[in-house]
Amino acid sequence: MAWNTEPQAIALCNSGDLVNSGLAVPFDVVYCGQTCYAFAIRYADRAYAYLNRCSHVPMEMDYQPNRFFDMTGHWLICATHGAMYSPQTGQCRTGPCRGGLISIALTEFDGVVHWHTGPHLQPVVF
Ligand code: FES
Repeated sequence: MAWNTEPQAIALCNSGDLVNSGLAVPFDVVYCGQTCYAFAIRYADRAYAYLNRCSHVPMEMDYQPNRFFDMTGHWLICATHGAMYSPQTGQCRTGPCRGGLISIALTEFDGVVHWHTGPHLQPVVF
């Protein structure tokens, strides 16, 4: 299959669906040819998105569906071994993580959050 290499902004959810330190909005992407889960969250009034793949072992991180924030609401935590990541950068703060999460560019305008495709990131085609 030939990928569309032109960057695209794909509508993901309404801005109001993402609440500071609240539940994530999940979505699927194709990353380096593999279909992967991803999630978007809001922290300190700004939306961020990452692949749902821990840098320790490539496993999904949510401890309950769409719950990524720890009890403080300031860190993203992996349910498996407790690696903690910055919600703003995806970088590892503590735990067995190696590096950080793979980020996905988002923009927000007219009350809608969009994610952006890139050279290694494509939409899932059904
Ligand atoms: S798989 Fe995430 S901390 Fe080990």
